[in-house]
Amino acid sequence: MFQLKPTHKVVKDYFAEVHKLTQLGAVHEGAVAPAFANLLRGAAQPFGWTLAEQYARTVRSGQAIRIDGALLDKFRLARGYWEAKDSADDLDAEISRKLAAGYPQDNILFQSPTRIVVIQQGQRVWDAPASEPDALVAGLRAFLTYQPPAFERWQQAVEEFKAVVPKLAAALLELIEGERRGNQGFIDAFGRFAELCRAAINPNISDQAVEEMLIQHLLTERIFRRVFDNPDFVSRNVIAREIEEVARALTSQRFSRREFFRPLDRFYGAIETTAATINDFSEKQGFLNTVYEQFFQGFSVEVADTHGIVYTPQALVDFMVRSVEALLQREFGRSLADPGVHLLDPFVGTGNFILRVMRHLEEIGRLGSLPHKYAHELHCNEVMLLPYYIAAMNIEHEYYDLTGQYAPFAGICLVDTFELAEDIQMNMFAPENTARVQAQQGQEITVIMGNPPYNVGQVNENDNNKNRKYSTMDKRVRETYSKDSKATNKNALADPYVKAVRWAADRIGDEGIVAYVSNNGFLDGVATDGMRKHLSNDFDAIYILDLGGNVRKNPKLSGTTHNVFGIQVGVSINFFVKRRVKEDSPAEIFYARVEESWPKDEKYRYLDEKEQYGKVDWTRISPDRRHTWLTEGLHTEFETFMPLGSREAKAGTGEAADVLFHIFSSGVKSNRDAWVYNFNRNVLTENMSRTVETYNEQVFKWERLGNKGVNVDNFVAYDDKGISWSRDLKAKLKRGRLSEFDVGKVRTSLYRPFTTLNLFFDRVMNDVVYVFPSIFPAPETETENRVIWLKVGGDWSMFALMANKLADQLPQGGSQCFPFYTYNEDGSNRRENITDWALAQFRAQYQDESISKWDIFHYVYGLLHHPGYRQRYQANLKRELPRLPFAPDFRAFAAAGALLAEIHVGYEEISPYALEEIETPGQPLDYRVERMRLSKDRTQIRYNDFLALGGVPAEAFDYRLGNRSALEWVIDQYRVKTDRRSGIVNDPNRADDSRYIINLVGRVIAVSLETVEIVKGLPAYR
Ligand SMILES: C[S@@+](CC[C@H](N)C(=O)[O-])C[C@H]1O[C@@H](n2cnc3c(N)ncnc32)[C@H](O)[C@@H]1O
Repeated sequence: MFQLKPTHKVVKDYFAEVHKLTQLGAVHEGAVAPAFANLLRGAAQPFGWTLAEQYARTVRSGQAIRIDGALLDKFRLARGYWEAKDSADDLDAEISRKLAAGYPQDNILFQSPTRIVVIQQGQRVWDAPASEPDALVAGLRAFLTYQPPAFERWQQAVEEFKAVVPKLAAALLELIEGERRGNQGFIDAFGRFAELCRAAINPNISDQAVEEMLIQHLLTERIFRRVFDNPDFVSRNVIAREIEEVARALTSQRFSRREFFRPLDRFYGAIETTAATINDFSEKQGFLNTVYEQFFQGFSVEVADTHGIVYTPQALVDFMVRSVEALLQREFGRSLADPGVHLLDPFVGTGNFILRVMRHLEEIGRLGSLPHKYAHELHCNEVMLLPYYIAAMNIEHEYYDLTGQYAPFAGICLVDTFELAEDIQMNMFAPENTARVQAQQGQEITVIMGNPPYNVGQVNENDNNKNRKYSTMDKRVRETYSKDSKATNKNALADPYVKAVRWAADRIGDEGIVAYVSNNGFLDGVATDGMRKHLSNDFDAIYILDLGGNVRKNPKLSGTTHNVFGIQVGVSINFFVKRRVKEDSPAEIFYARVEESWPKDEKYRYLDEKEQYGKVDWTRISPDRRHTWLTEGLHTEFETFMPLGSREAKAGTGEAADVLFHIFSSGVKSNRDAWVYNFNRNVLTENMSRTVETYNEQVFKWERLGNKGVNVDNFVAYDDKGISWSRDLKAKLKRGRLSEFDVGKVRTSLYRPFTTLNLFFDRVMNDVVYVFPSIFPAPETETENRVIWLKVGGDWSMFALMANKLADQLPQGGSQCFPFYTYNEDGSNRRENITDWALAQFRAQYQDESISKWDIFHYVYGLLHHPGYRQRYQANLKRELPRLPFAPDFRAFAAAGALLAEIHVGYEEISPYALEEIETPGQPLDYRVERMRLSKDRTQIRYNDFLALGGVPAEAFDYRLGNRSALEWVIDQYRVKTDRRSGIVNDPNRADDSRYIINLVGRVIAVSLETVEIVKGLPAYR
């Protein structure tokens, strides 16, 4: 392949250029390097390699380096590196320096205009002058014809392979896309295949997802054929056979699969050769698990996320299989080995639950039952091709290991489990697959076991990566779990694990067990009250082993260290038992939890030690009437207090009773904060007029389209710099709603505590503005109206902050706002929002007719600050809106509340606390903030390079709102932020008032100190 000759034009050009530069006296690195780069490009071209200049790489120390050039093959793998040096440099010293800094040594060429040094595998293999064409070409030959040695060890090869998988997949994608443009045979085959996928898996499946399936096929097929010495896999597997047809069309014409994969022989090579010597299949299986996780993590993070592509740790699988055996014995006198006990893993992944069940039969001395079980009673489903192959291969191999015979496993289906609930069954890819699905559907299932995917949905609509919709399953969740929930925000029910539980409860036979390891959010979620109700009605006994690990709720934990999956969401192992004869009473519920603070290995050890559910120390749970299972910390007298508001009162027209406030409103939910909020009015105006225009254009386009059968997700243009989509904005687009830019819509809003921003207040560009158009219809109302902005939800503790402006929804569970006045949206018809009923109650309670609604408003605000109240009802407040008792001293609370309201609303006018301004000698005067930082001992704020603010009083930190003090909110929010996706900059510095932020810091400290004083003076609340 090395074709370069000293007489070739590129070589002559190079020398001519060097000569010219020498004449000009410019023979330094920067001058000669471009000429050498041209030469390298020419020499590497026959290999199909390209030169990437200034190639970034991270060295072992973690430091990033930039190498002058890297020759990349079509997989974007570096085949050699090039570093250019000035002729005046001492090349040897330079080489030593670079190598010491961690430059790669497998194949690197150091070049100066007069000399070439090539280092391969750490050895200097070439070191000669380069002033003559012959010598130069010989040096290049040594560099370009380098053959990297095969990996010697399996582990090392696997590690490399892991790193390479994403590149591999990306290169395959490029190939497929190229063929789809020009290869008619392939275009036809691809089209037929895509139709098949749409019919069998998902009617909305994108071409991209179909391409990914092909990639998964090409990748795994080779692994199975070569690494696992299973040349018949493709012909044996019912799906692989089908897909191979398409792959053949891809490979028939100009493309040879063998040639294409040749550069990867080096990776496969070691894996294949070593694989032949490895008898222990589990080691090879480990490799497959790596491929499973790495393929999706590296190549399709979105799929990894929406489908929950993650391997279930062995300790959990072991514990669950043993527990199911023990539960079957105890509840029904049956065993997993017994004929008639059908088991289904609806989300099979790599198949480890099924494998473990097969091994279990051997463990309990019932291996004889395996052939029947394998042929008829083990079932599983998988929706992604790659895991489907891996599971099929693993299960068939396990069977071979256990019985010494090969038998195809007919229990596995390539199907979307939730689709099975639909009445109309689709054609499932291949006739055999359809037959298998039908066979599975006809079986009564005794055990459903597995690890369903969990995620609430996509984070950003611009990713166009949402959980798919299912008419039947979504309806089932809606009509049961959702219908019976009292929560306002039911987003948590969109998580696929919730659907998986609903599905299993519907699918399980007359008697049986559902064993899932899943998100533990349903145990205490506000939105999962209906789910808990149904679970205790649908089942007779429930065992929950809470493995904790919710990093959001407990920020001291680390997902990687403490969570059994290494993720951020809490996890539990759940066994739901259904008896044939349904008892009238709700299920008995048993709960146990491991120490939150345990690292995951300790949690695994616990599961190993306990072996099965019977050895766990369970506590029987008595749910309250609202289906709260984890009642620890809840106080029942809270129920007897007067509620701030209720959904019923809010929905009702006319006079409301039984509540303090008639209406309340969630904070404004923008769903595109980076766009609609900004410290700078001009920046906001510019961004919003641009995005409004982009959005309106899309509306017009949609209208012109006429054909409304088009999926809006595939219609809209995803351009992070022009618009940030949300589900809601797409729905508005479909309804033809236009937005209008109007400076009058730019209002001020309390975005975070003590952080006021400009907000583009508009019904289209904010997802939901809730009742705010009736609370602050116009800026004038800000002078008279007030709202108590209340943090609700389970993640942060409740806090209340008085505001005279619009307020944000806040993350982590949201906020609710209780206004004093409400209006018509045109600003007319002002009404007091505290109910007459509440006024009468207060007057009667305190025998005081002079009590006014403003007094009550302030009483509420004062009492919500009482530390004793907050502490005692912490758990209640995480579950529902506050309820307030009648405190003995009404006036004291009303007065304190009025004072607090005044300083909180007027925080920007208060005199700043005098901080010490410590200037850095030698630094120019500068009040600009990039990002402030608090010193470790929290007595100083590093304001910028020029200034530190000293003497921060410790008590200021006692005024906390949620997870931070007021001061920390300001430090956190007043910094220059650039939104990663849109590139929008949010800069809190003010051109007209350079000391604004310094003063603000002082003001918020002053407000904090005063708040702490007032709160200290509050009397008893009961
Ligand atoms: C958490 S993983 C299961 C891991 C498996 N227990 C293991 O250790 O290999 C969930 C699997 O379910 C699959 N899956 C997700 N949604 C599915 C659906 N609706 N139907 C069938 N399989 C699905 C995913 O592709 C993924 O492989």
